[in-house]
Amino acid sequence: MCGIVGVVGSKNATDILIQGLQKLEYRGYDSAGIFVADKNGNQNLVKAVGRISALQEKIGIEVNGSSGIGHTRWATHGKPSEVNAHPHVSASFRFVLVHNGVIENFKELKEKYLASDKFVGETDTEIVVHLIGKLIEEENLSVVEGFQKALKLIEGSFAFALMDKKNPEVIYVAKNKSPLLIGLGDGYNMVCSDAMAMIRETNRFLEIHDGEMVIVRKDAVEIIDTDGVTRKREPYIAKLDLSDIGKGTYPYYMLKEIDEQPAVMRKIMQEYMSEDSPHQMKVDQEILEAVVKADRIYIIAAGTSSHAGWAAKAFFEQMTQTPVEVCLSSEFGYNIPLLSQNPLFIYISQSGETADSRQVLVKMKELGCKALTITNVPGSTLSREADYTLLLHASPEIAVASTKAYTAQIAVMAVLAKAVGEYIENSTARSFNLIKELSLVANAIEALLTEKELIEQKVAKHLQDTRNAFYIGRGADYYASMEAALKLKEISYIQCEGFAAGELKHGTIALIEEGTPVQALISNQEIASHTRGNVMEVVSRGAKVLTIVSQDCAQADDDLVVQTVHPFLTCIAMVVPTQLVAYYATLQRGLDVDKPRNLAKSVTVE
Ligand code: G6P
Repeated sequence: MCGIVGVVGSKNATDILIQGLQKLEYRGYDSAGIFVADKNGNQNLVKAVGRISALQEKIGIEVNGSSGIGHTRWATHGKPSEVNAHPHVSASFRFVLVHNGVIENFKELKEKYLASDKFVGETDTEIVVHLIGKLIEEENLSVVEGFQKALKLIEGSFAFALMDKKNPEVIYVAKNKSPLLIGLGDGYNMVCSDAMAMIRETNRFLEIHDGEMVIVRKDAVEIIDTDGVTRKREPYIAKLDLSDIGKGTYPYYMLKEIDEQPAVMRKIMQEYMSEDSPHQMKVDQEILEAVVKADRIYIIAAGTSSHAGWAAKAFFEQMTQTPVEVCLSSEFGYNIPLLSQNPLFIYISQSGETADSRQVLVKMKELGCKALTITNVPGSTLSREADYTLLLHASPEIAVASTKAYTAQIAVMAVLAKAVGEYIENSTARSFNLIKELSLVANAIEALLTEKELIEQKVAKHLQDTRNAFYIGRGADYYASMEAALKLKEISYIQCEGFAAGELKHGTIALIEEGTPVQALISNQEIASHTRGNVMEVVSRGAKVLTIVSQDCAQADDDLVVQTVHPFLTCIAMVVPTQLVAYYATLQRGLDVDKPRNLAKSVTVE
């Protein structure tokens, strides 16, 4: 989703801004822009619709300076266009602003304070920069006073970076709900919505808390809290490796991340294995106690992360002896069910920034409910605001379509379930050797990764020219089907449903016609014959079927065979071939695998 970068005091602000915006491309955007200035009055604003490369083409040698702000926009208010792209300017052109988030009362602000102003675009951001300009210029306020006054009038989520053309040696920033950080350089300082944007320049970052304003100069950073008091804060070191965020020799991040999954499984084992016994897991005692005290676990998540929650539900219940509910974060916060007496909330989020999940966390914390975040990003908002965090250790995931984070989320939930089960002396957990089982999962994934050519050929025959498709399965295979279908639709644009195989006949089978592709997932011997029965039902109605089955369920004419793994972990192994199916279907359609249309990696608006 939208990204912010800014720099002050550098020799080459344009270069830093462009490189920063490129690092944020993975988050999803549809237009971009930069404002660059120096103290001699050379000031340029450049915007373009489409990729950063389109913006670069418009940047001439005159666009240089020592400070500036930049933005990638994912359209919310107003279509993707040059006038709607950020940065936006105030009515007098003096102030320049970039913004992430959504201003909820923008219409009221416009009517009440800016009725006579003319606007070039349709964004809420343009209204904010007009408001800031008006307050400062008409009421003769300092920039800090005017910005603070505007912030008091604004409702919604925001990360702002503001510049004053009269004094371009300063960037003023403020945030509420949307992520924003200060990067500390040597003789220059930076602003970014994601540490990844500036990791080439620095690994030292300062957090900004909601409600704070920060004044960033090349040699000083001043944090002012909501009461106007200056705050001191120690920087933290971001543990991000530049090589982790490169594509290496891969054509796409998604393929690299699919291939990394066996290594991620092994990393998770290494991080969570107890030094005392290789069969035991190392999880903080206070987390174990929080789970044990809970009478019900609510897993709150969005998209792929919610599918990981479904995949974990059954084994988590069996090992911890506690009921688990899996809830979509965008629904839960506004439709809160009757809660149990002593719930624990587990937020599963790759990015740790998803606004839908965060709104639940804020509301539930107000009710006094404890929060555990399972995330790939240390220091992310959901991690900071929760009582406890467990990390995925999957290294940065860049492709919009989540792959290694999903499999890591299930593995870390298994780690937690096993650790709690041991703690309460549950026999299922005691007899479950997670390290051995995860090793088998890593081996099964490795074996699948050698089958890429076969999968590519099967996909070419099976999904060519289709507009729709189905994944079907029962039990854990149903949950894996939901994730498999999401993967396929989000990058190949084939409309695909993940369906409970037995439910198909209660309505949806009406959609099956001659040539409809159906992919069946079968990994549970006990119910394999039922799913095979459902396969026959769709074949009889003209469907062409591709079967993905575990070895213990395989028959001679199955299409793809996955090594059998423990039933608790079957979603991990069964989803990997479907990730490759989505990847090759997308390649064969000539689409950009890593940057699907309309999608964002990190969704920071509700
Ligand atoms: C976006 C991404 C999905 C992701 C979802 C939840 O929609 O495109 O891939 O599953 O957000 O993200 P999270 O970071 O909370 O896991």
